[in-house]
Amino acid sequence: MSTPEAADATPTGTAGHARHIKIAPSILSADFTCLGAQIAEAEAAGADLIHVDVMDGCFVPNITIGPLVVSAARRATSLPLDVHLMIAHPEDYVDVFARAGADIITVHVEAAVHLHRLLQAIHKAGKRAGVSLNPATPLCTVEEIVPYADTIMVMTVNPGFGGQEFIPTMLDKIARLRALLERRQVQCAIEVDGGVGPNTVGRVAAAGADILVAGAAVFAAPEGIAQAIGNLRRLAEAGNE
Ligand code: DX5
Ligand code: ZN
Repeated sequence: MSTPEAADATPTGTAGHARHIKIAPSILSADFTCLGAQIAEAEAAGADLIHVDVMDGCFVPNITIGPLVVSAARRATSLPLDVHLMIAHPEDYVDVFARAGADIITVHVEAAVHLHRLLQAIHKAGKRAGVSLNPATPLCTVEEIVPYADTIMVMTVNPGFGGQEFIPTMLDKIARLRALLERRQVQCAIEVDGGVGPNTVGRVAAAGADILVAGAAVFAAPEGIAQAIGNLRRLAEAGNE
């Protein structure tokens, strides 16, 4: 795991110390008529990763981005691409998204029958492996897999759409995941996805998140992409103190 990308998914802090929190703007809420420019603006504003939401109309009730857009995003930025697969049969698409330029490939625990094998396939493709949990999925479903994952993603909305309302009971799930990782002494980053914005980001950071995904709060922010990323970072750091 000593690839340059490793630093992008690995928590940098230890228990009791402030973590360096990473911001991952989700292009789901970007203007696709000028996607390259929007990604470049996010990169210039200090985004740490670019989050790409892949939806198939089967695992979630929406259809969004495929490998073609991932490879276009790859050409638009040098930031790591954080590809979130909200699809059925993710095992059939690991190599496709790896070739398209993903750096982190995140799959849903609910979509994987053989999750350990799937994470092995992602690593074999040379990529970081993430595991995501829907809000209703209990934390115990990842208990056995945390030593094999680079990130665990806690969904704080039901996946499928940007701009939804944050589910506040997920804060306790994030905190319990942080405690689980510390108890097991596993170096695995906690990613939080859904409804992260100025009103929630401080609590999400305080609960123990390492990577914050934000779609509407970045790309639909009235103050513009750069200021929105700066505000989120400031509020996250304040919450993490
Ligand atoms: C939701 C996606 C999210 C989405 C987040 O299914 O996985 O990544 O883009 O969007 P916001 O931040 O607007 O809730
Ligand atoms: Zn996502």
